[in-house]
Amino acid sequence: MTDKNIESILIEKRRFAPSAEFTAGARLKPADLEALHAEAAADYEGFWAARAREELSWDKPFTTVLDDSKAPNYAWFTDGELNVSANCLDVHLAERGDKTAIIFEGEEGDRRNLSYRELTSEVSRFANALQAQGAAAGDRIVIYMPMVPEAVIAMQACARIGAIHSVVFGGFSANALRDRIIDAGAKMVITADGGRRGGSVIELKQATDAALAEGCASIEKVIVLKRTGHEINMTAGRDIWWDDAVAEQSDVCEPVALNAEHPLFLLYTSGSTGKPKGIQHSSAGYLLQAKLTSKWVFDLNDSDVFWCTADVGWITGHSYVAYGPLAAGATIVMYEGGPVYPDAGRFWKMCEELGVTVFYTAPTALRALMKFGDEFPNQYDLSKIRLLGTVGEPINPEAWMWYHTVIGKERCPIVDTWWQTETGGIMMTPVPGVTATKPGSCTLALPGIMTDVVDDSGNSVEAADAGGYLVIRKPWPSMLRTIWGDNDRYIETYWEKFRNRFYVAGDSAHRDADGYFWIMGRIDDVVNVSGHRLGTMEVESALVAHQRVVEAAVVSRPHDVKGESIFAYVVFRGDRPTGAEAEALTKELRDWVGEQVGAIAKPDDIRFTDNLPKTRSGKIMRRLLRAIARGEEITQDTSTLENEAILDQLRGLA
Ligand code: WTA
Repeated sequence: MTDKNIESILIEKRRFAPSAEFTAGARLKPADLEALHAEAAADYEGFWAARAREELSWDKPFTTVLDDSKAPNYAWFTDGELNVSANCLDVHLAERGDKTAIIFEGEEGDRRNLSYRELTSEVSRFANALQAQGAAAGDRIVIYMPMVPEAVIAMQACARIGAIHSVVFGGFSANALRDRIIDAGAKMVITADGGRRGGSVIELKQATDAALAEGCASIEKVIVLKRTGHEINMTAGRDIWWDDAVAEQSDVCEPVALNAEHPLFLLYTSGSTGKPKGIQHSSAGYLLQAKLTSKWVFDLNDSDVFWCTADVGWITGHSYVAYGPLAAGATIVMYEGGPVYPDAGRFWKMCEELGVTVFYTAPTALRALMKFGDEFPNQYDLSKIRLLGTVGEPINPEAWMWYHTVIGKERCPIVDTWWQTETGGIMMTPVPGVTATKPGSCTLALPGIMTDVVDDSGNSVEAADAGGYLVIRKPWPSMLRTIWGDNDRYIETYWEKFRNRFYVAGDSAHRDADGYFWIMGRIDDVVNVSGHRLGTMEVESALVAHQRVVEAAVVSRPHDVKGESIFAYVVFRGDRPTGAEAEALTKELRDWVGEQVGAIAKPDDIRFTDNLPKTRSGKIMRRLLRAIARGEEITQDTSTLENEAILDQLRGLA
């Protein structure tokens, strides 16, 4: 591997072992974990088959475990049948029907609790409503909702009847929503009049109307939840209020027995091209790992209150809000609003008042909250919290230590969980009662997950601290099945590099002398802004869609709160804008990208230039641009540049 970026740079020597007290109460003790690893090593398929039989309730038991006849399109438990919603809800009714499933808090402080029995009734009524509106197994349904219980109800209702949901994050724009509706060929949209975030209303219905104004011929119905109550347009014949749709429906809906491989959902995520890919997940394999990891990693038991702060628009909100913890019978917290509303104490206030015991969030949120100072968390009683987690990006040791001392009071293990939209569930993480943690490392793979670091030729990198490609050597049940409508892209993106021998995650990583994994970042053109994946190409396509932009190149640079931020170089039609004009255009372009993709994609920096540096063969010299954006020394050969004077413009000096 020649790329300098991939050389390991982080060195962290501190270790934190779980307390004897935590271990004594934990689900998995050192001997249990060891036994699970040994079982998976001795008989991989047998290991997964045993878990699938223990954890899931089957309508028709499976006899095939792993079908690799169409590798790398792997399939699991292929002749089995079950229903995901029944496995999250109905299975609990006898033993914990009255247990709280969801504790909801709105941004304005409104609260609502749903027991497992109530949630099952609501899901069933909405599932009946979906059928009455014409939805059937296999139909795609787009969910574009605020973080309210109805978002989970809608997802679970789709699962109950076998409709394939595709949740689109409420922060995405009308254009991004339209692209996803069209790619999925969706039949319905489930949305709300609006949602609340950071003190303002997110106009979800308005954005839906704008998306549907063009090219979404497949959409037949739009179901609209009344959340904010502000005025919106309803299109007769197409739009129906949620309350009206469920009004006449029974609260009993027999869950449909579906094949294990029946697609549960699509979730669009960014890749190296301008077009987001619809990651397709299965039913049984997905749920198995969402449930297992909820138990193993978050150690959930009946007295826990689990709060995963992720929005259901992301994979974390699928696996650790809508599915995994419910399958495990836990009580979850859902919160509609922003983390600093009305102030930076909101999360900690909620932890105290709702009695949160296990808290899971993103490093970017921690870095943002840390800046406001310790006085916010220190105002609240956080003594019920017993376990903390992070996900989405590498956590810097400083934020880790703050989490450990100020939030966890040096008492709580921190699980730094590495996984991806594609993996469906957590792959590498400390097991809280067992693994000694090191700030910044996701430590080791879970039982049954064969991660490795390899060099360019696919050989394991043995040397401690040498970097390479992060790969997964064996298929696992919750892996993505394909990219919706584009299996060639699935193979090309995840498998071709090493001739289908193993799954290529797209991250670089290294291992230390203890075998612990350290994630170093993406290898492809994906940036991680506030824990959210964005393709640089997506932002570039948005920029060039502006009528005055001729060409654009987007790179990332480190950002102390967001992790990475977007830096765009733009070539404008006509004279290169400078001074006040450049300032005005920067704002215009930022807003433009916000409209095209969503606010998270807005570039932090825009630099106007007469042209972009290219190689003789016409390729944009992205590494050079990255070095300039980061203020690093230029090591590339610039003698081939058409116009060397351009360097000063790129640096912002001319
Ligand atoms: C990054 C989020 C370091 C990584 C669940 C991965 C992480 C991408 C971690 C997936 C972690 C996620 N440490 N990096 N603990 N967790 N990542 O699909 O680059 O939104 O490939 O899934 O986030 O992002 P995605």
